Amino acid sequence: MIEIAPSILSADFARLAEEIEAVTRGGASMLHVDVMDGHFVPNITVGLPVVKAIARTTKLPIDTHLMIEEPGLYVERFIDAGASLVSVHVETEPHLHRTLTCIKERGAQAGVAINPATPLVEIEEALPYADFVLLMSVNPGFGGQKFIETSLDKLRRLRRMIDERRLKTRIEIDGGIDRENIARIAEAGAEIIVAGSAIYGEEDPAEAVRALRDAALQWT
Ligand code: DX5
Ligand code: ZN
Repeated sequence: MIEIAPSILSADFARLAEEIEAVTRGGASMLHVDVMDGHFVPNITVGLPVVKAIARTTKLPIDTHLMIEEPGLYVERFIDAGASLVSVHVETEPHLHRTLTCIKERGAQAGVAINPATPLVEIEEALPYADFVLLMSVNPGFGGQKFIETSLDKLRRLRRMIDERRLKTRIEIDGGIDRENIARIAEAGAEIIVAGSAIYGEEDPAEAVRALRDAALQWT
């Protein structure tokens, strides 16, 4: 089953509750919240108070993508703030086993995020204790970037890696996904698909979620 996770990074933050309501109406499965610290990535976005406020306004699971240094210090606080899924980057977390285990023990789903230029072998050992992999198909930091085409082959290899090991680890993909490329991405094995500008850059975000899901199902 394909799940669409709208990234609120491209939403109008002054009208966040309405923007969330729109994608909920469109059938979004979860809300993707991009947390950036200005160190690991060259941008600063939102943090704990915003996650807390979002949790008050929605029943959808909150998927926090932590693009921050030393994420292990903060995962519990994000879960306490209302996150149901938490992903940390392999490039900034040398203690993946400990941090992913900590996320799961606290009752959330644990994800390992990986940048476009980081080889899959870096996360191979972590797959058995990750609930999901967040495969970046742009360099993290900004919405509205172009999908890096080599991500498709990387996604296929990751799918094979997980299937060969008979693991249940899910694959989420993030960056540059739109109506044109989503079918190929779904076919390559992604299950959770993040989209920011392809949803909030459209006139009607609810309709944009539906259109993306319909386009994703085209490959079946
Ligand atoms: C990029 C973020 C993405 C971003 C996706 O660093 O992780 O979640 O919001 O936006 P689009 O879909 O516009 O590439
Ligand atoms: Zn993201």
